[in-house]
Amino acid sequence: MTKIAVVTGSNKGIGYAIVKGLCQRFDGVVYLTSRDETRGKEAVDKLNKIGLHPEYHQLDVADRSSVVKFRDHIKEKYGRIDILINNAAVADAALTSCTYEDATRVISINYKSIFTLKELIYPLVRNNGRIINISSDCGHLSNIRNEYWIQRLSKKDISEADVNEFVDWYLASIKNGTFNREDIADGAAAASYRVAKVALSAVTMVHQRELLSKNISINSMHPGLVRTDMTHGSGFYSIDEAAETPIYLALDAPQSLKGAYVWFDKRVLDWYDYKADYYFKVSTLNK
Ligand SMILES: NC(=O)c1ccc[n+]([C@@H]2O[C@H](COP(=O)([O-])OP(=O)(O)OC[C@H]3O[C@@H](n4cnc5c(N)ncnc54)[C@H](OP(=O)(O)O)[C@@H]3O)[C@@H](O)[C@H]2O)c1
Repeated sequence: MTKIAVVTGSNKGIGYAIVKGLCQRFDGVVYLTSRDETRGKEAVDKLNKIGLHPEYHQLDVADRSSVVKFRDHIKEKYGRIDILINNAAVADAALTSCTYEDATRVISINYKSIFTLKELIYPLVRNNGRIINISSDCGHLSNIRNEYWIQRLSKKDISEADVNEFVDWYLASIKNGTFNREDIADGAAAASYRVAKVALSAVTMVHQRELLSKNISINSMHPGLVRTDMTHGSGFYSIDEAAETPIYLALDAPQSLKGAYVWFDKRVLDWYDYKADYYFKVSTLNK
């Protein structure tokens, strides 16, 4: 039976490099997906020119009807997914200020979309399959400085409701003007992105519990500071270097690695260590 790998938001950046690396190593069909069909097909053409042949399908993770169409396509054509890499994301429009409109945009694409995928796409992931959530250093618990939320997100039996209430608390504080910049590390720069990625890494552990009966592994990871459009070209790593650990998690890591938070150098970090120095620092963008 043909094996299937799917990478969201893969017309450029790290997602594109993951598709490229999987095309070179994965024994099966690799899906390059994008919200914009023209950009996606241009990316496929680029890979075709170097002898790589991913399949293409439109997929906007924040648009339910798009996810439904993609689900129906996979269901009809292959009936299964072996590897799903949730990579699509956006950054805050501005680092130091935040409108409610922008906060909802970032949180719906980077976090809430996971629930649409869970409902419509995860049922297609076969037993022993793998899901990788591309998070960030912004997704480590040490980005949060609010004592109440540190304690609540640290609960070993954390639920979707805990994580959703954390996100709703943040959105409400932006909406009603009560947001306290001391609640988020580094002067709360890129606050919406940090909240969305912390929520993504937290909910990864919840979803791991739910997927245990199918022995599916789901992990979240930080790809390093990478030179892409998201960082306006700043960063220590190329997209190909950044794709190495996601590809390792997809193809090489033991299936027993489950519900972990993985660093770009493949180390499994303690996500709960809220006093650690793993949080994102804006100053690294200028190094
Ligand atoms: N670069 C870094 O230093 C860094 C560090 C930590 C974590 N990350 C994470 O790594 C992942 C890739 O980031 P990147 O740096 O490669 O960013 P990027 O170059 O900006 O690429 C992001 C990709 O996501 C797509 N996307 C955005 N919204 C989407 C949606 N609603 N549906 C489907 N696709 C959507 C974008 O498509 P369009 O072309 O249509 O916009 C693009 O293909 C993200 O999860 C990011 O948060 C990056």
